[in-house]
Amino acid sequence: MTVHIGAKPGEIAETVLMPGDPYRARWAAETFLEGAKLVNEVRGMLGFTGHWKGHPVTIQGSGMGMPSLSIYANELMKEYGAKTLVRIGSCGGMQEHVAIRDVIIAMTASTLTSPSSGFFREMNFAPCADWSLLRAAVAAAEARGTRTHVGGIYSSDVFYAERPDLDEQMVRHGILGVEMEAAELYTLASRHKCRALAVLTVSDHLQTGEALPAEDREKTFGDMVEIALEAAFA
Ligand code: ADE
Repeated sequence: MTVHIGAKPGEIAETVLMPGDPYRARWAAETFLEGAKLVNEVRGMLGFTGHWKGHPVTIQGSGMGMPSLSIYANELMKEYGAKTLVRIGSCGGMQEHVAIRDVIIAMTASTLTSPSSGFFREMNFAPCADWSLLRAAVAAAEARGTRTHVGGIYSSDVFYAERPDLDEQMVRHGILGVEMEAAELYTLASRHKCRALAVLTVSDHLQTGEALPAEDREKTFGDMVEIALEAAFA
């Protein structure tokens, strides 16, 4: 057991999917895993371990934002031996050709700051996805016929942004979408010699103001979970 995860040794799989929302962790575990068992409920940040096509998988909520994700990702990698971590979550679309329900596979994740920024001092580290996971996720998405974009995303510290100029620069530089966790996950995975990827569903759009209706969420999020699982075990 760690400070924030109550699982016993051996109860966390080497492959971990990380949604921000603990209830989405429960939904994904019940929907996609066989024999899913609750392994963590400290602070309500639910984690489940089960099997997908015979492979052990844990689905552990990360909470919202990089500081929260950093706690869970650190403990999973350093204390529980997690080796492959795939964030599954939602993001805001930032380009006209990116539509609600599309999937974004994040090659890189830009930030203004992150919990690791202080670590690097004057250096601007470039958080990037694991290539083997990225390639496998793109292949899985293509095979499913899911509308998918691959490229850079922006991991923001705030959902309610007050810097339109910053968003404009991100859009101008081709950033596909905004979320709040991937950059720190990529940085920590690099540090701990693990593999990481973020597979995201566009749930709202910064330019059009559109948002995914609640009733569409399950089917759309299901594609993302299956792409993540297929990539992890390719
Ligand atoms: N996650 C989903 N939509 C988002 C947005 N618009 N900004 C930040 N994170 C998000």
